Amino acid sequence: MTSFRCTVALVVVMAAIVLQASAMPPMTTERVCVKPDSSPIEGDIGPGQVRSSSDGCTDCWCDENTLIVYCVSGSCPPRSCHDSVRKPGVCCDECPNGYNCKTPGGTLVSDGQYVIENNENCTCSSEYTGMPTGSEGPQTMCIPLPTPPPPGCSHFNGTVVVGTKPGDFIHPDPCTICLCNTLYKLWCCIEVCPRPECRDAFIPQGQCCPQCP
Ligand SMILES: *[C@@H]1O[C@H](CO)[C@@H](O)[C@H](O)[C@H]1NC(C)=O
Ligand SMILES: *[C@@H]1O[C@H](CO)[C@@H](O)[C@H](O)[C@H]1NC(C)=O
Repeated sequence: MTSFRCTVALVVVMAAIVLQASAMPPMTTERVCVKPDSSPIEGDIGPGQVRSSSDGCTDCWCDENTLIVYCVSGSCPPRSCHDSVRKPGVCCDECPNGYNCKTPGGTLVSDGQYVIENNENCTCSSEYTGMPTGSEGPQTMCIPLPTPPPPGCSHFNGTVVVGTKPGDFIHPDPCTICLCNTLYKLWCCIEVCPRPECRDAFIPQGQCCPQCP
């Protein structure tokens, strides 16, 4: 019985040696690095190895002693254009056409250029400090254009008297006098005539009030 038990044990040990020899090279001590759950690295990292994530934004390495994987992610500078491209394996966007901006209306404006849009002068400049930068890229700085003066002062009913300007008096009719104010609006007064003292009063041409002959 004793010899039988001994034989079985020997066979098991030999089988184990044969299996191990065929499965892997001898003297391999398999040490596995432990990746954090949040690791963006695909596949395994060997002890002492450094690997980058496929988007190029994270580098991870495995500490040879502790077998812990450490990762660091870079951050990209704010976007400096609206037609950026991302090269494979490079973390941050690149601007092949340089700095550019968008107007509130969505027009692309190159660095140092301006466009007139919605009565505003919208300039793109990488040199201005405090240039508004949205999450989607730089914005233009817009200044309202000076509005041209209206063609004339207007009555409150909207009728424009072409050629009049602030400070002018006009007589729409002989009994009305109007003053144009600084906002190009006409303020009008109507003359009130005294009652004539005769029965055959008449209104002279171009006058407001009746007169006696
Ligand atoms: C718009 O602004 C730029 C400066 O930002 C100036 O050089 C340009 O003359 C302006 N254009 C008009 C039409 O006002
Ligand atoms: C507007 O008012 C002015 C002055 O009262 C008058 O002369 C003109 O005929 C009016 N126009 C209209 C369209 O009512």
